[in-house]
Amino acid sequence: MNKIAEIFDSLDYGPAPEGPDQAIAWLDSRGRRFGHFIDGQWTAPGKTFSADNPATGASLAEITDGTPEDVDAAVKAARAAFKSWSALSGYERGKYLYAIARMVQKHSRLFAVLETMDNGKPIRESRDADIPLVARHFYHHAGWATHLAREFPGHEPYGVCGQIIPWNFPLLMLAWKIAPALAAGNTVVLKPAEFTSLTALLFAEICERIGLPKGVVNIVTGEGDTGAAIVNHPDIDKIAFTGSTEVGKLIRAATAGSGKGLSLELGGKSPYLVFEDADLDSAVEGLVEAIWFNQGQVCCAGSRLLVQESIEEKFIAKVRRRMASLRVGDPLDKSIDIGAMVAPVQVERIRDLMKKGIAEGAHVYEPDGPLPAQGCFLKPALVTNVSPANTLVAEEIFGPVLVAMSFRTPEEAVALANNTRYGLAATLWSENINLALDIAPRLKAGVIWINGTNQFDAAVGFGGYKESGFGREGGREGMAAYLKPSWEKTLKASSPSAAPAKAGAANPLDAAQIDQTAKMYIGGKQARPDSGYSRPVFGPKGELVGEVGEGNRKDIRNAVEAARAASGWATTSAHARAQILYFLAENLDYRRDEFAARIKAQTGRNGAEEVARAVERLFAFAGWADKYDGAVHNAPLRAIAAAMVEPLGVLGIVAPEANPLLGAVALLAPAIAMGNSVVLVPSARAPLSMTDFYQVLETSDMPSGVVNIVTGDGEALAKTLAEHDGVDGLWFMGSAAGSVMVEKASVGNLKQTWTSRGLAYDLSDERFAGDYFLARATQVKNVWVPYGA
Ligand code: NAI
Ligand code: MG
Repeated sequence: MNKIAEIFDSLDYGPAPEGPDQAIAWLDSRGRRFGHFIDGQWTAPGKTFSADNPATGASLAEITDGTPEDVDAAVKAARAAFKSWSALSGYERGKYLYAIARMVQKHSRLFAVLETMDNGKPIRESRDADIPLVARHFYHHAGWATHLAREFPGHEPYGVCGQIIPWNFPLLMLAWKIAPALAAGNTVVLKPAEFTSLTALLFAEICERIGLPKGVVNIVTGEGDTGAAIVNHPDIDKIAFTGSTEVGKLIRAATAGSGKGLSLELGGKSPYLVFEDADLDSAVEGLVEAIWFNQGQVCCAGSRLLVQESIEEKFIAKVRRRMASLRVGDPLDKSIDIGAMVAPVQVERIRDLMKKGIAEGAHVYEPDGPLPAQGCFLKPALVTNVSPANTLVAEEIFGPVLVAMSFRTPEEAVALANNTRYGLAATLWSENINLALDIAPRLKAGVIWINGTNQFDAAVGFGGYKESGFGREGGREGMAAYLKPSWEKTLKASSPSAAPAKAGAANPLDAAQIDQTAKMYIGGKQARPDSGYSRPVFGPKGELVGEVGEGNRKDIRNAVEAARAASGWATTSAHARAQILYFLAENLDYRRDEFAARIKAQTGRNGAEEVARAVERLFAFAGWADKYDGAVHNAPLRAIAAAMVEPLGVLGIVAPEANPLLGAVALLAPAIAMGNSVVLVPSARAPLSMTDFYQVLETSDMPSGVVNIVTGDGEALAKTLAEHDGVDGLWFMGSAAGSVMVEKASVGNLKQTWTSRGLAYDLSDERFAGDYFLARATQVKNVWVPYGA
């Protein structure tokens, strides 16, 4: 046979290497030694470490390990640049972002090759996915910069943003961080991951070449302690982090109470559901993309295959066959599917996890065929015979390892899919649109892909639920994450509330003279405190005006359980929720005299005005219930992304001491309008307004468990709420010290918190009748649906 006929016969791949020469020439031109990029200058290299090519083990360059002094210099430069950068018009800033996008495109191949050499990912991916998305991100945000004042009136940038990124998508994560930050008018100090700093340094050259004002972008290289120096720097206003959940939790604890903005994009263990009516061949191709894209080093990797039992055997056979045709090898080869893992330590980590999983009973399939003799290569692996408790099912592996399990019914599929502490993404395949659109809303994850996977776009938000972090990148919500209301900076410290009116002056037993006993309200029922203790409530002159239960951990746990059981509220129609809020307003108004008298008894103030404002607030959020909703994004793909606004779930609310009725209602109303169920801790000094309120709840058709009221010491109960993994979000109005405590204690399940940090938020202000708390009561889920041509 002649050669051509032979090739046709075997259909074997020949090598199609991409040349590294230009990337090497660039490294040589820099002497293969790099300092930091600070204030528009390159610093002299300090103590360095090697940037390696994981496919060959060769050193590509020496990189400086940033010191706290380096970080400080970068923060100072960013601070100095902030004033003039944020004062530029949006159009001016937009032009810089546009210039960056252009430069990335003009040098796209250089970036792609350098990325592949430094990270080990196939050139096909860096060339066709990473770098085009980088350019797209800067283009998109050039537009946001231009329209910022119009679209986000009354908002301003944070100031200096510290940004810490991982190694799996080095330049893309840089773009996700820098583009919105700059568009909003912030300046940045960014630290690339230690394994992959080179494209960030090439990016710094682009900033130089387009004449970006000095200090606007500062790149400091280094390891974890350099990152920690950024996190702990007192003059940084916001931290944006992408990386492991473990480090994300450290950062949450380190920034607690600092007032720094924080967004965390963390790990995942995303389910990939295949129903029996799916287009199986497409689902197999999707799966290849889901778990073997970037060697599985993807935060949203579809690493947990859940396949319906009736097609399990058939589907798994197809997957195995496809795995055998995946080519592992030189990432610069254009026809390679799976490149190198980022570093030897990651290969070790994955091997250890596999050993553990196998010891726990897992079976592992890997296709035959050779691996390159050297370099950080792993074969694609399929793991079966596992229970949900197996390490390989529970832990994020961050490698080319797919874990397969089966399900019988859609119910079981949802339960298995959600059985994880993570909630970043989920994929589902079905040809039945009814089934797909029924399942998608029930999956607890920030991104859902229907009949597709790993779709990304700058116009579509990305980010997680649960321990996958909080905050979104991309889309309007991603822009909002780099802005804050201008009025916030004018808040003063709240004046310490006057000493409790002679607490203890009266004999608690005098309460026996008061005929009414205010109980707690849990699961739609009045409940006695578990402690068996009551706390007296005093009027302005120290007179006893009533008693309430002294709530404890057990009461909070009961209330959380009741709130979780009321999750049907989240899917009650917005119209129906609005009706109930209107009804609450109506019934509160009907009893206004009684509520006003109660306020007067507790505070000495005439309460009529406060009751009127509380009624108005309920009315306002009844109006919002069916209006604060999502969007449909038109990504440049054959799909739309429906940005759905979803409630957080169970929200703990610790209401302010002042304004015992309005303060609580101002927080409660937006929370329930959006479908959250709530555990409310009313003012400790004047709790009777809210214990009266359950009678309003009872007469307004409010389903039981949606609003639970636990009286007692605000800070003690806040701590229990913060530590409770069944609580998804916590709002705390109280002291600065209490706010630090709440944020620190929330690390366990990374619940979203809002704290007043001891500042004088006046909740009676009109500004709180809008989206301020609506945004904090919700998270956006983006559901990608194939659509159009
Ligand atoms: P990592 O979370 O330690 O690294 C991410 C970034 O954080 C790097 O820039 C690192 O220098 C920095 N960093 C490390 N410690 C820090 C600290 N205390 N304060 C501030 N910054 C710090 O992740 P690592 O160790 O590289 O990878 C370990 C595992 O983490 C992976 O196997 C994977 O499971 C997970 N991971 C998940 C990522 C995701 O996108 N979800 C990305 C990277 C890792
Ligand atoms: Mg490297």
